[in-house]
Amino acid sequence: MASKPRKRVLVPPDPATVDKPRTRGRPKKDPNQPKAEYKLSDRERARRSVQMRLRNAKKSAATQQQKAEYKKKKVKKLTQSADKIEKALQGEKTRVVDQGDLEHLPSAVGDLVDGSPVIFQPNPGPQEEFLSASEQDVLYGGAAGGGKSFALLADPLRYCHNPNHRGLLLRRTLDELTELIDKSKQLYPKAFPGATFRESKSTWVFPSGATMWFTYLDRDKDVTRFQGQAFNWIGIDEITQYPSSYVWDYLRSRLRSTDPELQQQLCMRCTANPGGVGGWWVKKMYIDHREPNKPFGAYDIETGKTFVWPDGHKKAGQPLFYRKFVPARLTDNPYLMADGQYEAMLRSLPDVERRRLLEGDWDVAEGAAFPEFSRSRHVVEHFELPTNWPRIRAADYGYASPSCVLWGAIDWDNNIWVYRELYAKHLTAEQLADKILEAEELDPLPHYNVLDSSCWNKTGFGPSIAETMMRAGVRWTPSDRNRLQGKMEIHRRLADDPYTNEPRLRIFSSCKHIIAQLSGIPLSKTNSEDVDTKAEDHAYDALRYMLMTRMSGYQSIHKTLQGIKDQAFQPADATFGY
Ligand SMILES: Nc1ncnc2c1ncn2[C@@H]1O[C@H](COP(=O)(O)OP(=O)(O)O)[C@@H](O)[C@H]1O
Ligand SMILES: [Mg+2]
Repeated sequence: MASKPRKRVLVPPDPATVDKPRTRGRPKKDPNQPKAEYKLSDRERARRSVQMRLRNAKKSAATQQQKAEYKKKKVKKLTQSADKIEKALQGEKTRVVDQGDLEHLPSAVGDLVDGSPVIFQPNPGPQEEFLSASEQDVLYGGAAGGGKSFALLADPLRYCHNPNHRGLLLRRTLDELTELIDKSKQLYPKAFPGATFRESKSTWVFPSGATMWFTYLDRDKDVTRFQGQAFNWIGIDEITQYPSSYVWDYLRSRLRSTDPELQQQLCMRCTANPGGVGGWWVKKMYIDHREPNKPFGAYDIETGKTFVWPDGHKKAGQPLFYRKFVPARLTDNPYLMADGQYEAMLRSLPDVERRRLLEGDWDVAEGAAFPEFSRSRHVVEHFELPTNWPRIRAADYGYASPSCVLWGAIDWDNNIWVYRELYAKHLTAEQLADKILEAEELDPLPHYNVLDSSCWNKTGFGPSIAETMMRAGVRWTPSDRNRLQGKMEIHRRLADDPYTNEPRLRIFSSCKHIIAQLSGIPLSKTNSEDVDTKAEDHAYDALRYMLMTRMSGYQSIHKTLQGIKDQAFQPADATFGY
């Protein structure tokens, strides 16, 4: 059935509203109208007042609860401290009592503890400073016999009552580790009766369940053994035996704990004598430009920039973590100083050894390959180089390890002035070429360009590193790779020229890496003719390539000049000039 069509009705507009503008929303109040009054009944009034009182009562209850929580915590801490001390007094020394615990309790208890036998007490001075340090990363370094290794062994005992404590103590070789384990066997069972050393796992297991793993790490690439593991305490004894900071940096990624108490104090602790293959980076990380015994924000050892929280973080601009260097002195260890015999032995050592081991002097390197290198004679401040001094560029290429490019100028007496250095990691051959071209923009064209000859190696049809750089516009010739000859040439250049009484090689003070490597690179322990290749030596290699260049072009310049001189006007009479 078809529906009926709807009727449309047209309504005429209301003449009363037709002139008024249409407004949206709630109509405005008339300001002339009397204000509304709330007439509350007695019952409602009473209800509201009760509600308000209830609210206030709730608020004050919450405050009281907070106060009670705080007091509960305080009492718990006190009971724990009392427990520890009681056990210690009963000879059941399962926990370490520290000064903080004693402060909670009446002085009479402190007197009692003073009277009981003490298993370990830090020597006053640096050892105490090291053991009480609150910074995340601390180096205890300096004189031999200062009590460094002993303190490193004692440090983790502070946490061994906690079942979640996981500690890792490293040395470079197995023999050295055995010595450390022997010392720990004297100390640990006394501090924690019931602690056992599991030889098969080289791990101490404490009655609480806490563990301390003693192991050695010889090669850098073996750090992957620690992949996926977590430790709240990591220590290395004699850290300068590691040629670079690689292992220490990697271990930092393993430093973590889920235990709230241990999270508050994650520790990286290391000890060292000055010198050794890694003396240069340890000095750079903890000692150069920073005051001893004072915490400082950890910084990148290559750029010197402090690691900080990024923008947008609530700690933006603040250091990520702190480091501290505690210098060790033999005089602070009464156990070795008492009879003076050990001191006498150290005093009888040759000058360099004595300064390192007795005085803890970090400025002298052990078995330095270039003991004749001296900052006062070989390092000069920047000056404007004459544009007609021929230029020489030399480079050692690396991607994971740094690349180093050195620029030198040859003066008219055949002396070399190294005036610029480029030292960078993770640059492809093309990127390095770009950086070189950028640095040389205002330089005269170099006469000689030498690059590590292994950069021409290739196994297939693809371009070699040298070829890639040459395609990018940086020309190279292969370097001389004779290591021993190269080292001899550096010695010859560092020595004084008998005619001028000046060294034949000078370095601008801005070339930091080559200066550090010449002053710190040690001799090889297996081949005393060469430097230790485990130490960082990229700038040293670049310098070797530079000095081993046959500067035939330069000789010809000299010859040309000599020729011009020979053909020049020769006066017949030396006095009157004709
Ligand atoms: N706080 C201490 N309490 C007892 N003995 C100590 C203490 N500090 C050091 N010693 C003794 O001094 C010796 C030498 O210390 P050590 O840590 O080996 O020195 P370093 O590692 O600095 O060369 C240790 O074997 C130990 O017997
Ligand atoms: Mg030691």
